[in-house]
Amino acid sequence: MEKPPAATANQPQKDAAPGQKTADAEPKSGVDYHSFANTDDYRVKHLDLDLTADFDNKVLKGEAILDIQRLTQKNPSLILDTRDLDIKAVRAGVGNNLKDVKFSLGKTDPHLGTPLKIELPKGANRVAIQYQTSPDASGVQWLEPQQTAGKKHPFLFTQAQAIHARSFIPLQDSPQVRMTYKATIRTPKELLAVMSANNDPETEKDGVYEFDMPQPIPSYLIALGIGNLEFKPMGERTGVYAEPELLDASAKEFEDTEDMLEVTEENYGPYRWDRYDLLILPPSFPFGGMENPRLSFITPTVIAGDKSLVALIAHELAHSWSGNLVTNASWRDLWLNEGFTTYLTNRIMQFVYGDERYNMEMALGYDDLQADLNDRPDKDEIMAIDMRGRDPDEVFSNIPYEKGSLFLYELEQKVGRENFDKFLMDYFNNFAFQSITTEDFLKYLDETLLKQYPDKLSRERINQWVFEPGIPEGAPHPQSDAFSKIDPVRQQWLDGKIKASDIDTKGWTFHQWKYFLDGMPEKLTEEQLKELDSTFKLTQSKNNEVAFSWLMIAVRNNYAPANARLEEFLVGIGRNKFVRPLYRAMMENGMEDEAKRIFEKAKPGYHPLTVKVNSKVIYGD
Ligand code: BES
Ligand code: ZN
Repeated sequence: MEKPPAATANQPQKDAAPGQKTADAEPKSGVDYHSFANTDDYRVKHLDLDLTADFDNKVLKGEAILDIQRLTQKNPSLILDTRDLDIKAVRAGVGNNLKDVKFSLGKTDPHLGTPLKIELPKGANRVAIQYQTSPDASGVQWLEPQQTAGKKHPFLFTQAQAIHARSFIPLQDSPQVRMTYKATIRTPKELLAVMSANNDPETEKDGVYEFDMPQPIPSYLIALGIGNLEFKPMGERTGVYAEPELLDASAKEFEDTEDMLEVTEENYGPYRWDRYDLLILPPSFPFGGMENPRLSFITPTVIAGDKSLVALIAHELAHSWSGNLVTNASWRDLWLNEGFTTYLTNRIMQFVYGDERYNMEMALGYDDLQADLNDRPDKDEIMAIDMRGRDPDEVFSNIPYEKGSLFLYELEQKVGRENFDKFLMDYFNNFAFQSITTEDFLKYLDETLLKQYPDKLSRERINQWVFEPGIPEGAPHPQSDAFSKIDPVRQQWLDGKIKASDIDTKGWTFHQWKYFLDGMPEKLTEEQLKELDSTFKLTQSKNNEVAFSWLMIAVRNNYAPANARLEEFLVGIGRNKFVRPLYRAMMENGMEDEAKRIFEKAKPGYHPLTVKVNSKVIYGD
């Protein structure tokens, strides 16, 4: 919790740098090993930003003013997180009486960035930092006009989670610290800026935009997008910001967002963030979506034309409860964000689209989990994962998502759906606007569900879910009738008993295609590949999930007719969920030279995160 929390029960030794914290035998609950900030001494409560977006030089420059709360009688230096920031001046003092103060940058850690140490006058409660970002800021992508849908205007977006807010704002970059913020963003006149704050759908494009986020949020949820954006409402509280070229298609694809919002409120408690809008980004966005409060950031690659990939919207919306309202206290606790959200996503999909869709989404999630359990070391299968000394971007996997969700599904099955829904609603209320640890959650579980249903649940089994690798024996195994029908047909085709054209694929959604393709054996013959492709036109598939599953098969089998599509896909899309597995498969299947050539060609258009993690795949450490 934020203050004074269970999270403070186990604080690191005084003055321990995150590097030294790593010396503990076990990670300590509530310690954020990914921030330099001395959050025991000071807490940032409010941020005032004034930034100019300079597209010519690819820098954000201006001032960040932090209001800080003192937690100690002593007057230690204030330590903030930064990464590649050019700090020009720091002033500090009380209220508006700010004077220049001394500051210094410490030693740079390759994962964590550089601590900024500020000498505070006694009693100071405000710090103003003048700075500018680097053109290579890890949390900012500056796009050339040709990388956008309209090709005429540049675009900028930020992606702060997990530890990249520090690359565009000097602050306490820890999910344990919540702050409100205000911002003034200055842009070229013809562009519109939007933020994870109160966007006014009616605002005039004049190059100066004011924002207010009155609810306290962690730094990883601060977000900014700038581009040739227009707004279209989808419902009373929901709408979409996109380039005009994508606006109508986006609003149509995601028209069920308002329904999703309503069913989630009915079941899990009020939506506390006022509006819920979507920002459609260019395809280089490294994720599917990001739950920036009031304004989820969304990849355009899910606009499939048939709503088949809108679980992504349900997911980012669900974070308005699990994650944005109740927040993981450190990145070890990420499963509290992503596991709960994945569970809620499936439930929302069921409410809005019915049982069959629910079963398929659940079954695909289960298969994703199995795939990750198969190719990961044991220690990375633990939900409360030890992240010390590691780059969160490198550790990213399905485990916190799908194992977390399966765990909650087991709880639901044991205590009954109605009871579990009530538990969740109470949980969100109880911890609203707080950051909590895995242990805080377990304690809450002890006091609620475990007390109520001692014969149905055991702490021992729960500990096994949270602290042991793999999944406990007898865990639920979600299945779908629609998929069970596919298994024998796929087998008959593989056995040569039927032709691909004999398979009744009429009415198959992406889910069935994905299940059909992902269930293929490692190796197929050239004939089989050709037959699949000519019958189902897979290389031409416009559904990016289907195209991805097919391209994975193509790469594993060196199916050359798909190479041009593979290149187009890798150059056109920066979403890591697709890009990384494809490069990895290329490296493992004799396509090293192709992988390098395509990567170098695509690199100028990739997001810094996509460049970082895929450079590792291609060139090693
Ligand atoms: N918050 C995550 C993205 C994230 C997680 C960024 C950890 C950095 C560190 C977002 O909500 C997410 O989970 N996106 C998924 C959605 C999918 C599971 C539906 C994605 O981008 O693929
Ligand atoms: Zn998520």
